[in-house]
Parts: sequence; structure tokens; C-alpha cells
Amino acid sequence: MLPPGGDWVRRDFLKGVLAGTAAWIAAPAKAVAQARNGTEKRADANAPAAFVPILQGATTSTTAQFSLLIYKDLDIRIGVSYIDRASDSAMADVQLVLERKHRDDSPWIAYKLRVSGLEPGRQARLDVIGSDGRLLDQREFSSLRDTAPETTRFVLASCMHDDWLKESPAMWDALSAAKPDFVFLLGDCVYVDTGPWSSITPERIWRRYVETRLTLGLYRWTQLIPVIATWDDHDFGKNDKDSRWGMKDASRAIFDAMYAQEPTDDGAVFAGPGIARGFHAYGHRFLVTDGRSFRSSRWARAQRETFWGPEQDAWIENELNASDAPAWLLNGTQYFGAYRSGLAWSFEGNHAARFSDFVHRIRSVRAPVVLGSGDVHFSELQKIDRSVFGYETYEITSSAMHSYPRSLPKGNPRRLAGTSSYNFCLIETRMEDAALRMDLTCLGAGSRELFKIKDLTVRR
Ligand SMILES: [Fe+2]
Repeated sequence: MLPPGGDWVRRDFLKGVLAGTAAWIAAPAKAVAQARNGTEKRADANAPAAFVPILQGATTSTTAQFSLLIYKDLDIRIGVSYIDRASDSAMADVQLVLERKHRDDSPWIAYKLRVSGLEPGRQARLDVIGSDGRLLDQREFSSLRDTAPETTRFVLASCMHDDWLKESPAMWDALSAAKPDFVFLLGDCVYVDTGPWSSITPERIWRRYVETRLTLGLYRWTQLIPVIATWDDHDFGKNDKDSRWGMKDASRAIFDAMYAQEPTDDGAVFAGPGIARGFHAYGHRFLVTDGRSFRSSRWARAQRETFWGPEQDAWIENELNASDAPAWLLNGTQYFGAYRSGLAWSFEGNHAARFSDFVHRIRSVRAPVVLGSGDVHFSELQKIDRSVFGYETYEITSSAMHSYPRSLPKGNPRRLAGTSSYNFCLIETRMEDAALRMDLTCLGAGSRELFKIKDLTVRR
């Protein structure tokens, strides 16, 4: 039973110190294992599920955050233990902070957890136990390993429509098999506006998040992978919506309830304007921007036009100028896309005056900057030649995991490779002789290589 009154804004905080592998785990392992098989239809958001949708969020070498959806149970317990340790050894230094939000019109409660004091890279287990003592779910995770600075493997992915039930499971299996250090979800992670466009309410936004989490393999992985997300229009709430969108505050609050990416004490994870996040790992800097909350109409006059908004522009500029370490500027909407005349769903195409300012600002940044984006339902690697930023760099657009199909548009002179098959982009990067080097592999179902480009170099 949910407590009476209030709405989803209500929060509860629990703090506790966990001790080792808890004795109260009586494992109905079969039920959990069965629940991880692929689903065949979109889940019913009012019915209980045989598993707990879990997403590992922002993670550092000593902390990990998680978001969970729990059916009606306000008294769950969490057990955390190292997998390779004797069962009686305690993790007395592991602290759990728990926050929960729910709506009176939904039986699902969104929990956010933070586990700190972890040993870098050590495999651990997360047990979710209901108030009746039943093991509701069990996953494995680790914090980031603390070795090989400046070398990392990560994934960019976007556009994951929960109606693509046949295509979806193989995509999430392939992403899991790629074993990246972390994943950036670059928008359209929930298609809120599927169905009638006229009636988008907070209840509906929440319900679509729940349905998506009950359906996609991403939320069922046995071995969790840290995820940091931003949104694009469909998870912001409606096709091509911008700062004038009436549901933007409700949408923001639901996004914040669903993704565990709170700033960390060591500054490795930090917040920007809107839902923007910064993340430092392995000597690389990632800025995951909010391309929707502050955006003006695509039809605004040049002087009134904004894309990230002045505050976020300043945040990006300050962060990029804060060091010489390589920086990845990630956004839902594609940056360079004006070649698609008449269908210019890009920063360059729709907000040309601000795009010109952006290019000017990046020119003066001393660090090498690489661009990442999603949204367009095809993936492509674009080479941005020296004439633009003063050095050669790249834009990697990763779309779609599984969504409305689109053929690869012709006529992009910057494109080095592309695909319109369902895919995600794996980036393996390192610093060599003061230059950023990377291999880009675009992978599809069955871990099929759709394209692979090795030894791309960005040198400032
Ligand atoms: Fe999309």
C-alpha cells in the first residue's frame, strides 16, 4: 500500500550501513532468471512484474548509483556484497543513500540508490529484497577500474522505441556483450508521444517511462553497465518540442526521478543547467548536454535564437576551457546536418546563428573536442576538417537502437562511414603523444560489425 495523499514529488531518504552478504537472502533464483528472458509485448504498467527494472547510473571508481522501479513496496532492502569474498566478510564501509518518488496514479515507485566506499573495479552483487523477505532481483556490477588512465571504451546509443519488440532484445544483448566501461544514452530513450499527440500529461510521461523500463533488455542486464543519459524530443515529451513546451517542468522532474546521475563529492560527476551532466573518467571529460530545455523555436529570428541557452553555453565554454584533457561534447540533436536541406534536423540547420557562435567558441578551446549525437535514425562518422575548428576532428552520430527505420540520406561530403541498420557506436580511445586516438565500431544485432574505422586521431 502506498501512503495516502501527496503526489510523486514526495521524497523519502533512508540512510544505512550495509553489512556483507545478508543472511535474509532466500533466493527464488528461478523466478529471477525467467524474468530476464525477452518480452513479447509492451508491458502493462499497472501489473506487477517478475523482475525489478534496474539501471546502473553514474559511477566512479568508488561509488555507484542505481535507479530501480519497485511495485508498491515501500520497505525494500538492498544487499551489496563482493562476489569474490567469503560470505561472512563485511562491507562495513558501504553506505547506501536511498531516495524514492511515486505518483498516486501509478503502482510503481522510483528508487535511487548510491553505494559508496567501493573498491575500484571489484565485482559486486546487488540484491533487492522485498518487505516479505523475498529476493525480488539480483544483479552484478562494479565501480570503474582505477587503472590505465586515458584509455577507455564507451558506447553512444539513442532512439530505443519500446514498440520494436522483435528487434529490441538482440540489440541490448549485443550492447551487453560489448562490455563497455559506460554508456551514454543520447535521447529518445522513452517515446512519450506514442499514441494520441494531444493528451500528454505527467501521468502519461511517467507511465511511458515505466512501460519502457518493463520492456527493454537494458533494464534486465545480469551484469550492469553504468549509464548516463540525456533526452531528445520524444523523452522531453513531444516531437520537436523546445523551451516553450508546457510539460517541460513535469518532464524534467520525472527524468530526474528515473535516472541516478547525482553529482559526486569528488567532482567526477557534476550537474549543468537543466538535465546537463559533466563526467570525468580515465583522463577524459564528457559533457552530456540538455539540447531541449532552453532551445528556441527553430523559426526564431537569428537574434532571439538559442540552442543550449546562454547559461548552458557559458557552462560548456567554462568546462571546455578548464583543462587540456580531451573533451567529448554529447547532445541528442546532430550538430552538422545542414546537408539534409529541407529536413534540417540539426543544430547547424535549425539554429544557424548560434551554431556559428558555437563553432567560433570551440576554435579557441585548447583541448581536443569530439562531438557525439543521436536522434536521426542512422549512424554516421563525419570528419570535420581543419577549416571549421582549426584542427581536424569528428562527429559521431549514433542512432537508432530500435525505432522507426530510415534510409541513410545521400549527399553528406563529411561522411566517412554510415549505416541505417539498428546499431550503437562503440568508441575505444586512448591518449598517445598528446593526441587523442580512437577506434570507432558500429555494432548491430548479433554483435555484427556494421562499420569499423581505426586510428582516428584528434590533435590540438
Ligand atoms: Fe528517435
